[in-house]
Amino acid sequence: MSGEDISVLLDEKRIFKPKEELVNQTNVKQWMDIHDIKDDKELYKKAGNWEWFWEEISKDLVEWYEPYKKVVEWKVPYVKWFVGAKYNIVHDAVDKHVKTWRKNKVAFIFEGEPGDVKKITYNDLYIEVNKLANSLKKLGVKKGDRVGIYLPMILELPIAMLACAKIGAIHSVVFSGFSAIAFRDRVNDCDAKVVITCDGFWRRGTKVYLKQQADEALENAPSVKHCVVVKRTGDGIPWTPSRDVWWHDLVFNSPKECETERLDANDPLYFLYTSGTTGKPKGIIHAHGGYAVGTAYTLNWVFDMKDTDIWWCAADIGWVTGHSYIVYAPLILGATSVLYEGAPNWPQPDRWWEIIERYNVTLLYTSPTSIRLFMKYGEDWVKKHDLSTLRLLGSVGEPINPEAWIWYYKYIGNENCPIMDTWWQTETGHFVISPLPITPLKPGSASHPLPGLAADVINEEGKPVQNAGGNLVITHPWPGMLRGIHKAPERYEKTYWSKFKGLYLAGDVTRKDSDNYFWIQGRADDVLKISGHRIGNSEVESALVSHPLVAEAAVIGKPHSLKGESISSFVVLKKGVEPSDSLRIKLQQHVSNELGKIAKPDEIWFVSDVPKTRSGKIMRRVIRAKALGEEVGDISTLANPEAVDEIGKAV
Ligand code: WTA
Repeated sequence: MSGEDISVLLDEKRIFKPKEELVNQTNVKQWMDIHDIKDDKELYKKAGNWEWFWEEISKDLVEWYEPYKKVVEWKVPYVKWFVGAKYNIVHDAVDKHVKTWRKNKVAFIFEGEPGDVKKITYNDLYIEVNKLANSLKKLGVKKGDRVGIYLPMILELPIAMLACAKIGAIHSVVFSGFSAIAFRDRVNDCDAKVVITCDGFWRRGTKVYLKQQADEALENAPSVKHCVVVKRTGDGIPWTPSRDVWWHDLVFNSPKECETERLDANDPLYFLYTSGTTGKPKGIIHAHGGYAVGTAYTLNWVFDMKDTDIWWCAADIGWVTGHSYIVYAPLILGATSVLYEGAPNWPQPDRWWEIIERYNVTLLYTSPTSIRLFMKYGEDWVKKHDLSTLRLLGSVGEPINPEAWIWYYKYIGNENCPIMDTWWQTETGHFVISPLPITPLKPGSASHPLPGLAADVINEEGKPVQNAGGNLVITHPWPGMLRGIHKAPERYEKTYWSKFKGLYLAGDVTRKDSDNYFWIQGRADDVLKISGHRIGNSEVESALVSHPLVAEAAVIGKPHSLKGESISSFVVLKKGVEPSDSLRIKLQQHVSNELGKIAKPDEIWFVSDVPKTRSGKIMRRVIRAKALGEEVGDISTLANPEAVDEIGKAV
């Protein structure tokens, strides 16, 4: 460890107190004043009466078509929020704004990678959503039908999501960086009737031909009747006339008004697939009403959203961060958001700082991986730009190391902007553990569960632990809580609710310090976090094993200075197959084709066996310890202890 690292670790003990003048103007403080709450202690205490709290919170954020009869109905492990209400999230995200002054407020500032810019107002958004919603109806999409969306960061992506929600259809967005096969599996799992994609998009100066990937997926997706194609690059693309239709042809002449479907508040809004410990991703289900309240509340309080703010959540909409904090929450709050298509370091490492300066961004929300990337380029790129409009910063997706926290604070925030380190998951829908702008900050800690939310750290016996690593659990339901896994209720119950009765198991090892600050240490299960994105170890293993020359594979995550974790794999080849460098490259490419570039193994080691238990379970923990040169512990229960030595020799 370098001297610098040590000093940063010591600095972890530093506490950054919020500035008095900022505190008084915050949304949370104003709410406290209205509710006669004198300090944050009283706030957390009062919010402990969580049914009361969510009722109060919902009043300021959402408008029901018909009121609810009950705030919450909790029958472990299934929850309903705002029971009996008639609702549609699109009413709050779009419709309600066109009846106010926000009609002409900019909803999205879009910047393409080549530099093309388009701003759309809430009224523009309203019209575009209505036109597409009417068109989807014409294609036969009805309430409850699924629509697969495979689009990059262009305006048509939020428009498509909202158009589905408007008519009560369920969208299932698949990250445009995922492969054709990954898209196909997700489309088939949810039996999508229609898919929406585009000809291509720009990434790091070159074009990605997404339609070709979509075509490959659709060769084997029998439920899909139509493929709607956005023209982005304008290049010639393959076309299936009986199935494909251009977006612009479809919406041409489509009526500008479309009634929003009055749904039950607990009807599903979307499925979003995320990795678990098996090779098959889980289709996480979110519903309209509670999700709307939970996402809007958290954005409003944590990032203190004001009408004068320019919000930039620099995630991709293909992940939950983009669903909640690029699309739904900012729109419900009537915010102006930046939507950027391309790579952060294209054409130069100051593209982001240029964007912040150009649009006067006030709130920036990104991941530790991005921060570490910019750290690598150095602060001179930052100093070329005026970032003085920034007033709050955020981090998400993986633990932020204190060194990156301090750099972010110092160079991006100019020591003026508090950093909101928000812990949450695809399953939680919105932030659960996060500071508020009134919270004293400890670099590297996401601080406390937000008011109205409750989490704890417990040991294997289910007893709360402090100053030691334990299981992070959420102790009562929350509005954005997942409603299940599509077509897999048993997996839902087993994954989240079976280890500790009535408690939601998050799957993260966490420590609570003496001041009750939560320190997330990483996944407890076999799920990798690559650049903040979830990839199951077993998904990569299945992809490797699907290659005809591979007999077996074991995948582990290794600490990586930029990406948080890198993918290291141990591959057993079929009998008679000779290991070679060219095969290694082929296998890397194979995984990339199967799953997408983000899942491509950084390392492939050829071995003759991988350590297994007698029942045949691959011992990833042992492999990881050996590969990292750590203590492997007792391996006497292994069926093939000699395989451990081979791992040691291979790396
Ligand atoms: C990790 C992303 C530390 C954690 C929103 C969690 C974090 C998983 C943080 C969910 C954070 C997310 N500090 N770790 N602030 N935020 N994580 O579903 O391991 O892609 O369980 O949702 O990311 O990843 P997911």
